[in-house]
Amino acid sequence: MNGNSHKNKNSPAIVIPDDFEGHPLESFCIAPNLTKFLQYVLIPGGFVQDRIERMACDIAVDLANEPFTALCVLKGGYLFFNDLLEKIRRLYRYRVMDLSEEVADEAQQIRVEFIRLKSYENEQSTSNIQVIGIESLESLRGKNVLIVEDIIDTGRTMVKLLNLLKQFGPKSIRVTSLFVKRTPLSNGYVPEYAGFNIPNKFVVGCSLDYNEHFRDLNHLCILNSLGKDRFSQ
Ligand code: IMP
Repeated sequence: MNGNSHKNKNSPAIVIPDDFEGHPLESFCIAPNLTKFLQYVLIPGGFVQDRIERMACDIAVDLANEPFTALCVLKGGYLFFNDLLEKIRRLYRYRVMDLSEEVADEAQQIRVEFIRLKSYENEQSTSNIQVIGIESLESLRGKNVLIVEDIIDTGRTMVKLLNLLKQFGPKSIRVTSLFVKRTPLSNGYVPEYAGFNIPNKFVVGCSLDYNEHFRDLNHLCILNSLGKDRFSQ
């Protein structure tokens, strides 16, 4: 039901060690109004794209010939969702060239749905998780669902979403998260497809925000104390 049987053959998440000192901000094109609020680049955007390409391969292999619905968890998941689906679709286009019309028709069906979850205040994950757009989950009944999430921190948000989703009777559920944080507060949840396993630090960029700031930054960066103070709520 939840796709755990797929875990072993998927490519491993890239581990960014705790003592990794990051890349200097000056080595990248980062707007000067942002650099003063950042410490360093943890993962360059190009590296993120290369990893997403491989994750797309893993998912396309698992879901070969099966239609599925990709559920984007907003807001943080939107860029990953876009990049991942674009890469899966490209793989599907190559693959269907060899298939019969009927099989190709099935294989190419990727539907999209969106849901918005909010659990973070400043740098803190809270147990108060708001779900917006729950009505859209009704369309997932009997479908293969791929949940596309930006980051798993404590795992509370994902466990809550999975429990919610199961009530709508999907055929299968798989989860992909671009980043998974190593935190002692983790509830042990591990997604089927994980991009990067990162240190327990607050990150911004790659559509991850700090109180709605820094989503546009195309590298994953660590915020400095000035940034935390300036944009705290
Ligand atoms: P969890 O419920 O603790 O796993 O938190 C998941 C959600 O918290 C993610 O979907 C993000 O929106 C947010 N989040 C967790 N860590 C970070 C971070 O380092 N930067 C920005 N957002 C984060």
